[in-house]
Amino acid sequence: MKIEISARPLVEADADMLVVEQYAGERGLAPDTRRVDRMLGGLLARALTEERFEAHVGDTTFLHTAGRLRAKRVLVVGMGARAECRADTVRRAASAALRRARDLGARSVAVRLLGTRLPPGVRAQAVAEGALLGLYAFDRYKARKGEERAVEHLTLLASAGDQAAAREGLRVGTLAAEATNFARDLINEPANRVTARALARAAQAIAREGRLRVRIYDRAACERMGMGAFLGVNRGSQEPPRFIHLTYASKGRVARRLALIGKGITFDSGGLDLKPAEAMERMKDDMSGAAAILGVMKVLPRLEPRVEVHGLIAATDNMPSGSATKPGDVLRAMNGKTIEVNNTDAEGRLTLADALAYALREVKPDEIVDIATLTGACSIALGSLCAGAMTNNVALQARVLRAAGEAGERVWPLPLIEEYKEGLRSEVADLKNTGPRPGGAITAGLFLKEFVDDTPWVHLDIAGAAFTDKELPYAAKGGVGFGARTLLAYVLAAGRR
Ligand code: BES
Ligand code: MN
Ligand code: ZN
Repeated sequence: MKIEISARPLVEADADMLVVEQYAGERGLAPDTRRVDRMLGGLLARALTEERFEAHVGDTTFLHTAGRLRAKRVLVVGMGARAECRADTVRRAASAALRRARDLGARSVAVRLLGTRLPPGVRAQAVAEGALLGLYAFDRYKARKGEERAVEHLTLLASAGDQAAAREGLRVGTLAAEATNFARDLINEPANRVTARALARAAQAIAREGRLRVRIYDRAACERMGMGAFLGVNRGSQEPPRFIHLTYASKGRVARRLALIGKGITFDSGGLDLKPAEAMERMKDDMSGAAAILGVMKVLPRLEPRVEVHGLIAATDNMPSGSATKPGDVLRAMNGKTIEVNNTDAEGRLTLADALAYALREVKPDEIVDIATLTGACSIALGSLCAGAMTNNVALQARVLRAAGEAGERVWPLPLIEEYKEGLRSEVADLKNTGPRPGGAITAGLFLKEFVDDTPWVHLDIAGAAFTDKELPYAAKGGVGFGARTLLAYVLAAGRR
């Protein structure tokens, strides 16, 4: 879909569908919508009354203009209460409007810059994100694709004074949506395609396209570095592991060095502690953290923040076989700590342990954020619309939470209660990898904390939010691409510090 900005007034917009906004609880139309309605002889206001249009966020209704207006049809989208309008309201409304316009057969759509109350840059970014994220579909393997109905052309209508800000907002929003949709594609692509080697190839393609530095370590190289925890997870697999290190470095002065670590389990069978069928079904999504990191690394070269960003992924599947790691086996991580594997299904923290140790030794970052589909316990705690955040540094966590707020992604802190570390005590090794079921998200976080020393660090557990069984306001069923926009907002903010 091509997106551009125009300073044309609504009444002159040339499109199959013109989208205007309406707030809940307001009787009249907004001034520019009123001008549109004057051309329609008042039909729009009448239609809204007749239909008892309540203007909840994402409600839609439409009219044919029968030649009275340049645009062929007018679609009204509900915005909820004016005082409660946020960037995420705009994303939701834009998504709803674009989905409806597409379903109604429109090929070109002109949208008023929704969200009157907000700054124009924020509005343009949110409209672009809502449109691009809401129209996303994964139909690569379907004979009948959705191509017969597709919006090909989107115009954002902004006033002359708002043009510059809107243009910049559109640019950032388009890239944020690209990062998210790239992650979604990787998650939705099945595990017989997305192997560790395929993730490494994706990283190499990103590096080529953006002129980033990339290092790919194979099994032998990981062995030399002492990544016994990561390699222990790969033991049962037919697919070789890959450790991926992508680096973006701003050309100018660098304010900060960040490490972003994504869990990259391309399929989680559970290993010898095999998952039951229902729990295993969606486990191609266990590389959602890695996908978010790759999405961010893909767009950073076009945003040029003044930071250094290291994207790290320990990629493998987790499979059972005669050579697989067994319950009771002891592994040695890169930092020398030994781990008794009392449950082979707690594999993510083993791969992350070595990625964190690698970050400390090879990158020496100012701060680390990891993102992982780590525990069912986190999705039990927070449900499917919210990720958990855990940290050894509340100031850093506050910045990540602020970024999540901007991105419209829910992230909520969970406490790393020191006493619960007792649950990870092993009789034979420094740690065991699994604690008791209560507080499972927290013990997983405490396990990771053993590998970050004093480096400021935030752990995001996205097990609940990474994948959706039902359509969301701007995500289709399947991979959500959760975290890509939060991390992007966090990196951009770090570049402004
Ligand atoms: N990948 C799973 C976590 C998960 C569960 C993600 C549900 C998405 C949806 C992780 O590797 C896992 O299996 N965790 C175990 C940990 C347990 C053995 C301590 C879990 O949550 O059951
Ligand atoms: Mn597992
Ligand atoms: Zn897993």
